[in-house]
Amino acid sequence: MFLPVRTCSFVRLIVDFAALLNTFLILIICLDQQAAAMSEKPTAYEGRNLLGFQFYLKHSEEHKVIQGFVDRVLPGVFKRIAQGKSQMDILGVGSGGGEIDAHILSVIGSELPAISLSADIVEPSMELSDNFKALVRRTPSLQKIPISWHTVTCEGFEKQVKDNGNVKRFDLIHMIQMLYYVKDYPRMIQFFHSLLKDNSKLLIVHEGAGSGWDILWKTYRAELCTKTVSDYMSAGDIKVHLNQLGLRYEEHLISSTMDITACFTKGDEMGELLLDFMTEQDHFYQSLTPDLQTGILDLLRNKCSTEKNGRILFDNSLCCLLVYS
Ligand SMILES: C[S@@+](CC[C@H](N)C(=O)[O-])C[C@H]1O[C@@H](n2cnc3c(N)ncnc32)[C@H](O)[C@@H]1O
Repeated sequence: MFLPVRTCSFVRLIVDFAALLNTFLILIICLDQQAAAMSEKPTAYEGRNLLGFQFYLKHSEEHKVIQGFVDRVLPGVFKRIAQGKSQMDILGVGSGGGEIDAHILSVIGSELPAISLSADIVEPSMELSDNFKALVRRTPSLQKIPISWHTVTCEGFEKQVKDNGNVKRFDLIHMIQMLYYVKDYPRMIQFFHSLLKDNSKLLIVHEGAGSGWDILWKTYRAELCTKTVSDYMSAGDIKVHLNQLGLRYEEHLISSTMDITACFTKGDEMGELLLDFMTEQDHFYQSLTPDLQTGILDLLRNKCSTEKNGRILFDNSLCCLLVYS
């Protein structure tokens, strides 16, 4: 069809204007996200604490046991979620360096090759988000999945969703080892639960009730809950809130221990880094009084751990709560 020259340039003008407006809107959204990220409080995952976390991940079997759980238990869950769908939208909250997200996406990809995937990631730490992006660059199967990055806390993400008004819903939302840092976690669970589509799941992985972490952090709640963790809760406490919210869930225990023998040798660099991470201190021996140091070390050895072949094995058990939509 031939249009008169005048109409043609008018149409082009409209198209150019629409493209300009689109670029402008994208720029505003990016600036808004950046401003939100900058105005938020720092997370625990910076400086020495980030080093401690990365050392903890290498030293403990945490990722290995979670990945084993994903392989053993979740394929059936993913298949049930995917029934009658051609697309699954996944949301990772507090994804860190993305190792578990990547594993979940690869298991879904290999179990359900006909399903298209999208991923949204809510992770406030710039450094951990960059590590996740680097992991995507190294992993060809992840590069096929469209990923939207939200470098904000879950509270910041909630605000963005409410301000923008366009609510994306998800087939799987996971919160793995991150709820400790969320002040009003029952409300946040409720918010993320409201983002689930029908026949979907919210997966929460958290330190188990009665685990070494639960005993340590509840015994020394007043002394330790002074930084980014304002009130420690274990999976047992989350269950109480799920019951109060009337949410239905399945529970799976993931047993694991971690060798903390080095924590009992003062001056052992790795032992002290681990001790700092476990108690969220910059330097355990410089930050806490001698009485507190002795009390914590005694509790770690005698109440939170077992001894085997001369090694001190901390109870690092986790619990997975699979919440129904
Ligand atoms: C223990 S790490 C777990 C990371 C990852 N899920 C894993 O299992 O390896 C806790 C994560 O929660 C993130 N985080 C801390 N406060 C948060 C908040 N308010 N909202 C969302 N994520 C948060 C941290 O930046 C960190 O990546």
